[in-house]
Parts: sequence; structure tokens; C-alpha cells
Amino acid sequence: MRVHVADHPLITHKLTVLRDENTASPTFRALTEELVTLLAYEATRNVRTVPMTIQTPVAETTGVAIADPRPLVVPILRAGLGMLEGMTKLVPTAEVGFLGMVRNEETLEPTTYAERLPEDLSNRQCFVLDPMLATGGSLLAAVNYLFERGAQDVTAICLLGTPEGLEAIDQGTDGRDLTIVLGALDERLDEHGYIVPGLGDAGDRLYGTV
Ligand code: PRP
Ligand code: URA
Repeated sequence: MRVHVADHPLITHKLTVLRDENTASPTFRALTEELVTLLAYEATRNVRTVPMTIQTPVAETTGVAIADPRPLVVPILRAGLGMLEGMTKLVPTAEVGFLGMVRNEETLEPTTYAERLPEDLSNRQCFVLDPMLATGGSLLAAVNYLFERGAQDVTAICLLGTPEGLEAIDQGTDGRDLTIVLGALDERLDEHGYIVPGLGDAGDRLYGTV
């Protein structure tokens, strides 16, 4: 497993505003989108391409096109949905599949309540979107599901993560080709499984309580 923690003043600045409890939902949503686009730049560093010849107004030249099968972007509902627009802005030709997961706030175990993905993920590069990597349970279940369906490599983009969550995912993915790109690596989990200092409940801050 490879982990990349962003180190850029603009990302840290935007995360600071995002963490602030006084930041309201409209600003929170806009910042989430901007942050994903910045993180996606790093996360797509190894996106597969094929050479392509084109004609400029001046000369013939070779460039690249995104290879087939196209990358699959998988937001984890609900909070990951707030990251989708920021990702597809950068990779507009990507396909999008969905996983709906919710963490039981007593046991901290995730349950999958929705799945809409291509049946066969053989040779697919997948990009999972979830703002929070807390215990790691939700992300671990999501990436293992994609690998079981044949995904070749998986990159997860999360705004915040914890050392405990990264350790759990490393232990649970059995050396698979997984990259995790984080906006920041926070200190720890608290006794309720919340990220400290974190930003609170990402889904609630994006969309309000349900
Ligand atoms: C949040 C978050 C992650 C998960 C992280 O979702 O978006 O999916 O918790 O926690 P974990 O690493 O301990 O599994 P939540 O279950 O609150 O659902 P929501 O997106 O619908 O708010
Ligand atoms: N889910 C969240 O939304 N926030 C946390 O801090 C942990 C899990």
C-alpha cells in the first residue's frame, strides 16, 4: 500500500476552513470540491494512457489519450458524493459507479446498503472517493469489494485520515495494489471513532443531519 499525504499550502489552507465549525454547508461543499480536484491531480499520476497522434495547425505530433477500459470513479455514499464533481472535472471521461455504506455508530462496523457498479472490473483502474478514513472499516470494505470484482489497482482519495485507519487498511488488503491519497493525516481516533482534530461528521456538514 502506498500512502501520499498532500503537502501544499493551498490544500492546508482550504482544509483549515473546512475543519472550522463555523463553516456552513454551502462553503463546505465548495471547498470539498476544490480539494478533491487538487488531490486528484496527484491521485491520477499513474492513470493509464495510450499514445495518440494528432495534427496541430502546424505539424503532426504525438500525445496521449486515456486508455480503455476507462477509469472508474466510485464515490462512497453519502459523503463521497460531495467529492464526485471535483473528480469528474479533472477526468471527465471516467465512468462512475456507486457504493452506499453507513457506519454503525455503536459498533463502528460498516454496512453496504447500495451497489451500482459494472459487473466485471477486470483490468479497471478504480478511484474511490470518501472524505473520511477514520477506523478504515468503510474504505477497507469498499476497496476489497472492488478487488474481488477484478479491479487491477485502486486509488482512494480521502480528505482526512488517521494512523489507526491506515494500519487497518494495510493489514486488511493483503499486499494488493492500493494507493491512498490524503489531504492530511490527523492525530488519532477518539473514543467514538471520530477523527481528531478532524472536521466532525462529513455527511452532516455537507448535507445536514438525516
Ligand atoms: C462516514 C465517512 C466514511 C466513514 C468513515 O460515513 O464518510 O464513509 O464514516 O468511518 P470509518 O473509517 O470508521 O469506517 P458514514 O458512515 O457516517 O455515512 P454518511 O456518508 O452517509 O454520513
Ligand atoms: N465519519 C465522519 O464523518 N467523521 C469522522 O470523524 C469519522 C467518521
